[in-house]
Amino acid sequence: MSNTVVMGAQWGDEGKGKIVDLLTEDAEIIVRFQGGNNAGHTLVVDGEQVILHLIPSGILHGSKRCLVGNGVVLDPVVFLQEVDKLAARGVDVSPGRLVVSAKTHVIMPYHRLLDTARETSKASGDKIGTTGRGIGPCYEDKMARIGIRAADLADPGLLRAKIERALVEKNALLAGLYGQPALDAEAVFREVLPVAGRMAAYVGDVAGIVGEAMAAGRNVLFEGAQGTHLDIDHGTYPFVTSSNTVSGNAAAGSGCAPGALTRVVAVVKAYTTRVGSGPFPTELGDAAGEHMQRVGAEFGATTGRKRRCGWLDLALLRESVRLNGPTDIALTKLDVLGGLAELKLCTAYRYKGRQQDYPPLEENSMALVEPVYEAMPGWSEDISACRTFADLPENCRRYVERIEAVLGVRCSLVSVGPDRRQTIMRG
Ligand code: GDP
Ligand code: IMO
Ligand code: MG
Repeated sequence: MSNTVVMGAQWGDEGKGKIVDLLTEDAEIIVRFQGGNNAGHTLVVDGEQVILHLIPSGILHGSKRCLVGNGVVLDPVVFLQEVDKLAARGVDVSPGRLVVSAKTHVIMPYHRLLDTARETSKASGDKIGTTGRGIGPCYEDKMARIGIRAADLADPGLLRAKIERALVEKNALLAGLYGQPALDAEAVFREVLPVAGRMAAYVGDVAGIVGEAMAAGRNVLFEGAQGTHLDIDHGTYPFVTSSNTVSGNAAAGSGCAPGALTRVVAVVKAYTTRVGSGPFPTELGDAAGEHMQRVGAEFGATTGRKRRCGWLDLALLRESVRLNGPTDIALTKLDVLGGLAELKLCTAYRYKGRQQDYPPLEENSMALVEPVYEAMPGWSEDISACRTFADLPENCRRYVERIEAVLGVRCSLVSVGPDRRQTIMRG
């Protein structure tokens, strides 16, 4: 039995969707365990692209079950839109195949409003550059113990009362602080009610399903969202998302024991990208950065924003290895680096006059570190048709091997293009 966690090791958009889609082959159940529709996971099958925000990336495999765990924050409007889109493509999204935990917290219209109002009110240097999907405010309500959970959607009386209670504080903020019109509880209730009615069929006992599957020896695949350095605790705080994105949260966010997780696949993009604000030591503003942005088509899958690009940061990844304990790495977008004469790898940081192997601890110190680079010769060949490691040009193999040597983790999977088939499995 192998229960695998797939998680992002950088600042998101590492190619988790593609890797989950691939590894779904060996699993029977795929579970999202944190984040919400701030995520945008792209799958390309036979040239056709599908972008998923909430539904697990295993959904295109007809016989597998897809679950949304308790650690996720779920916008029911977006969830049902995604269900309808997939159904229109002929994908089976029937309740039973697709289950949302009764304990999953629900993103309400006022969460979205607060997310954007708060961002708008901030001075430019303080803006996080959130996706505006209401993620932070929904997690805040969960922690404040005033959240609405998926199970509540089936009980109109409870839902109405919870909206009323939540709006006491929300309206004080919206109207009193952000100069927005106050919301009427009845109007919000009427807006949510039809969606709530449709959601009920999808709500179930995710922890129970996962537990039963594991007891029967069936493989479960856990799909992370965002990336390690967007983690609420371990990321570049405060420029982070509002959930734990590290592998350990796969257990808490789906309701299983941590000992059941046998494999952790860290998805690493062959260079670094970041969307939104926050420090980025290896960020490039030159032709090499433009090459990555253009050849890698680095635009956000959720907001369409241009992604910032830079060299691979092994100091950042060393920390990811420590935090997630990956058994292997899935290295993606290696094809994008083809054509760059020289590649640079950041192997350490210089901070306050000293060299260090890991990110410093003080808030915003990552804005002050200076990368220590190692240069390697690049390759000019198009590698997108390579299917074995031996097919890759020598300099390309060396680049992969250098990453493995510094991080002490094997790149068991190398991705050379967006399509499911453009993959080198090294076992
Ligand atoms: P995720 O959020 O981690 O699932 O990643 P995204 O889907 O947001 O972004 C990854 C982008 O890179 C998507 O457009 C993928 O189709 C694409 N992609 C994934 N792997 C590769 C690869 O190996 N090469 C290239 N060129 N594109 C890739
Ligand atoms: P996937 O799963 C990249 C970033 C936002 C912003 C910060 C906080 O596709 O890798 P939030 O809306 O979560 O409060 O925004 O986090 N962010 C992502 N960046 N990929 C993602 O998801 C992201 N989800 C959130 O850009 O900087
Ligand atoms: Mg993405």
